[in-house]
Amino acid sequence: MARVLLTCELPPGGLDPLAEHEVVSRPSVLAADISDADALVCTLTDTVDAAVLAGAARLKVVANVAVGFDNIDVAAASARRIVVCNTPGVLDETTADLAFALVLAASRRTSEAEAELRSGGWRGWRLGDRPGRDVHGATLGLVGFGRIGQAVARRAEGFAMRVLHHSRHPTGRPGYVADLDELMAAADIVSLHVPLTSETRHLVDARRIGLMKPTAVLVNTARGAVVDEEALAEALHAGRIFAAGIDVYENEPSVHPRLLGAPGAVLLPHIGSASVATRLAMARLATQAVADVLAGRHPEHPVNPEVLA
Ligand code: DGY
Repeated sequence: MARVLLTCELPPGGLDPLAEHEVVSRPSVLAADISDADALVCTLTDTVDAAVLAGAARLKVVANVAVGFDNIDVAAASARRIVVCNTPGVLDETTADLAFALVLAASRRTSEAEAELRSGGWRGWRLGDRPGRDVHGATLGLVGFGRIGQAVARRAEGFAMRVLHHSRHPTGRPGYVADLDELMAAADIVSLHVPLTSETRHLVDARRIGLMKPTAVLVNTARGAVVDEEALAEALHAGRIFAAGIDVYENEPSVHPRLLGAPGAVLLPHIGSASVATRLAMARLATQAVADVLAGRHPEHPVNPEVLA
């Protein structure tokens, strides 16, 4: 029986794959806390860096209950022959649903309209009230065309949108735009679907926001730091773009104060994958990965498979 450290509460059934093991709940991953663990199940809010891993003498596997793993120093884990696993695949459709909800909400600025109604400020229907931007027929620019980006593209088909996409490597698919600047300038709605890496940090900065149409909408369900939040807040306050739909932030759970007060900002608290079925699937994928590694089996989604070779 191995000792598995768990830093978060999993939905009922999420721990089933670990029935044979001792599961210990701890709220943090400080080095001292994981010295006795054989495995770690954590989330994107846990920083698993080289210092933490240095204290993990027995650790064989880290399973992140998330598809993004920018919270983990994978190189440091690999150097210690610790397998790192994530949860791709099971959350694509749910996250794409939420991205599309933000496309719609930001384009029609539904948060501001609802706030007016709730505050008692609504004076009845008027022809000129709160004109938004149409989503149907608009040009959608996807930055990143992995599983989630492609799932958003499928939804866009139903809205008769023209879909462009950019990724580091040519996809060979219709709508591929090699130059990100060109996509930023051409799209009515830009939606971000790239992981956070040293190359994508502040990929959407003041200059690229400046390339967007004044009528454009930016949607981010990827990672907060892909966007320069200060530049985005400035653009919204100055009316340089029409709106933004944001689910992720650079310093979660804090939200840039100028973004909180920005006109046209629809702000959600990182709920992209938050459906009952998807959160259970993520939990089970992570705990199954731990069970597999502990049993000497190949887990389904190692991010550093070379460690298993
Ligand atoms: C992930 O899995 O990386 C998401 O951000 C959380 O759903």
